[in-house]
Amino acid sequence: MRSISTVVFPVAGLGTRMLPATKVTPKELLPVYDTPLLQFAIEEALAAGAKRLVFVSHPAKSAIEAYLRPDPKLEGELEAKGKDELLEAVRACSVPEGVDVVFTMQEEQLGLGHAIHCAAPHVLDGPVGVILPDDLILGAPCMREMAEAFDPERMQSLIAAQRVPADRVSSYGIFDCDDADGTARTLAARGFVEKPAPADAPSNLAAVGRYVISPVVFDALTRTERGAGGEIQITDAIAATGSIHAFRFSGTRYDCGSKDGIVDATLAVQAARRQDTAPMAIAAE
Ligand code: G1P
Repeated sequence: MRSISTVVFPVAGLGTRMLPATKVTPKELLPVYDTPLLQFAIEEALAAGAKRLVFVSHPAKSAIEAYLRPDPKLEGELEAKGKDELLEAVRACSVPEGVDVVFTMQEEQLGLGHAIHCAAPHVLDGPVGVILPDDLILGAPCMREMAEAFDPERMQSLIAAQRVPADRVSSYGIFDCDDADGTARTLAARGFVEKPAPADAPSNLAAVGRYVISPVVFDALTRTERGAGGEIQITDAIAATGSIHAFRFSGTRYDCGSKDGIVDATLAVQAARRQDTAPMAIAAE
């Protein structure tokens, strides 16, 4: 299988949409049934073969670093008390040996493109994956599907895509493409517009939070000026390369940056647990 060696997680956002839940707890650590949202993103990256995980975080969100740090004292206590299942659950969440964890800080909230650019000094060679943890995708691991579909000879980027209702286009990056309603797995687009007004939207095919980008996109980011919302947008950097490919993934996406999305995802994970199946079909080798 083709793999993606570096996956970037932009986690610096302050999660204001989820206040007061996010007043103290980073939104990425909110639970989806029994597991922090971020854990799903990490497992998805590992399933795509990632060897380095780069977290673009914020000093106010040190709980994310604490979550990723091994906790021998906790493990020792669980072991001493014979709480084997819990011990196993804690150990299953640790990043495996041989996978680097890198933290870098995005002090100023200058946009998703800026966050991804902050990761540039830390990425390994080859195409880089980006996972926005609050877009939870259950079912077939999306980044792995994208790693397999990404053709470096032909593409500078591959972006997970799904159709959204016409009145929701202004919340997304929208592809300018023919056949937005079709079923082809990958689709070349002419353009890519960040958060257009419904009247200006070139289609209703929207980007969701999974990207595979080549070094050419990182290069374009160095020249990308502030765009929609006054922020540096990854959408604009990708559009500037002229090589834009949308990818129709097979899993189900939950917008866990919204309260209802977290509830829907929680019910889906609860149902999977009851049937004893892995919600991220990660075990489906
Ligand atoms: C970001 C991107 C947008 C994309 C969306 C997917 O927006 O800028 O292009 O469609 O993620 O969730 P945000 O939701 O961070 O405003």
